[in-house]
Amino acid sequence: MFLWGTATASYQIEGAVTEDGRGPSVWDTFSHTPGRVRDGHTGDVACDHYHRYLEDVALMAGLGVNAYRFSIAWPRVMPTGAGPVNQAGLDFYDRLVDALCERGITPVPTLFHWDLPQALEDEGGWLNRDTSRRFADYAAVVAERLADRVRMWITLNEPFVHMVEGYGLGIHAPGRALMFDALPVAHHQLLGHGLATQALRAAGAEQVLITNNCTPVWPASGSPEDLAAAETYDILHNRLFNDPVLTGAYPDLSAFGVEIPVRPGDLETIAQPLDGLGINYYNPTRIGGPGGDGLPFRFEEISGVPTTAFGWPVVPDGLRELLDSLKARYGDALPPVYITENGCSYDGLDDQERIAYLDGHITAMRQADVDLRGYFVWSLLDNFEWAEGYHQRFGLVHVDFETQQRTPKASYHWLRKFLEATDTLEVQSTDT
Ligand code: FCB
Repeated sequence: MFLWGTATASYQIEGAVTEDGRGPSVWDTFSHTPGRVRDGHTGDVACDHYHRYLEDVALMAGLGVNAYRFSIAWPRVMPTGAGPVNQAGLDFYDRLVDALCERGITPVPTLFHWDLPQALEDEGGWLNRDTSRRFADYAAVVAERLADRVRMWITLNEPFVHMVEGYGLGIHAPGRALMFDALPVAHHQLLGHGLATQALRAAGAEQVLITNNCTPVWPASGSPEDLAAAETYDILHNRLFNDPVLTGAYPDLSAFGVEIPVRPGDLETIAQPLDGLGINYYNPTRIGGPGGDGLPFRFEEISGVPTTAFGWPVVPDGLRELLDSLKARYGDALPPVYITENGCSYDGLDDQERIAYLDGHITAMRQADVDLRGYFVWSLLDNFEWAEGYHQRFGLVHVDFETQQRTPKASYHWLRKFLEATDTLEVQSTDT
């Protein structure tokens, strides 16, 4: 069955940040630190999904999707990141999974979508190797409770973005600006992925994926400098997180001047066989180089294409290009691919631009020569868009954050009709 779904993440929608024993996460700390998030917005209430999840599941059922990718908040399950399990936190996901199954919607949880328990950050967060082991312990606890109903699991969401924005640039929680000294965060997340994969399987999980953010990298010109810079950026954004998982080896990281703290056996752990690769795609990236600021690359504008409200270039064929390039790079080592996020920020209820965006990207992905098994729209609801607060609206459903009123947008109705046409449900014959 091809999975057509919507995607969300815990801190972006749940709210209820002190309820039922949830501990603080790095995003609570960060969003409450003045100057970190636009207009001081926080996820304290967000979409109040913790209390309104039944309404949100009903919205998905009305949309006609057969899958839902959501994330589990580690600090709800283990308020201090390790040690005592908070059953009340697990109960919430238990209820959510039941509600989804009752509606015939396949639950696809992600175990880490950036809301690390603050207590673990206090011990170094993902710079500390111990966090990998703690992540696996947490994965085992969640799977023991849910694996009787949840078949498909995603370990990490976008470890690249978390490393760069959270530890490299300090734009996201935990707000550390270490530049390339953040690179150990890549290894500890990947090790956590490998250990969690083992823990999930031991607890009965049938299918395990990782979700990576990937981008086609376009050299700004054919000059040797631009080509070399583009290759360097491709290593950092795409290969650093795909190569170890799919091939058991890191790419050449010498351009970054930082050693990755690999110990014997780590790469074997990281390269556990996977049942799928989750890909989040938003736009291509144009790179010239080197940068004037000591960086081995610089970002160049992509002109001549529409942009979203976020200013991101809209290039649907970039998705086909990305998928074909993954196939060319990894060949038979590429597992089935799921587009675990794709979407855009636009204002308004009559969101014709979003319809054009989704239509264009779905068409483009179908032209790719890969074994594609799923497509999840980011996002079901307008939500807390990290450093942008509530300013970027990615939802198929509009949320009035004063009243929590949900209103389906034109794109919701468009997608509902698209999904109703059952012959469009299969991209290829990829039954599992
Ligand atoms: C991705 C994140 C997701 C959301 C979208 C717009 O990088 O995984 O949480 O913020 O971008």
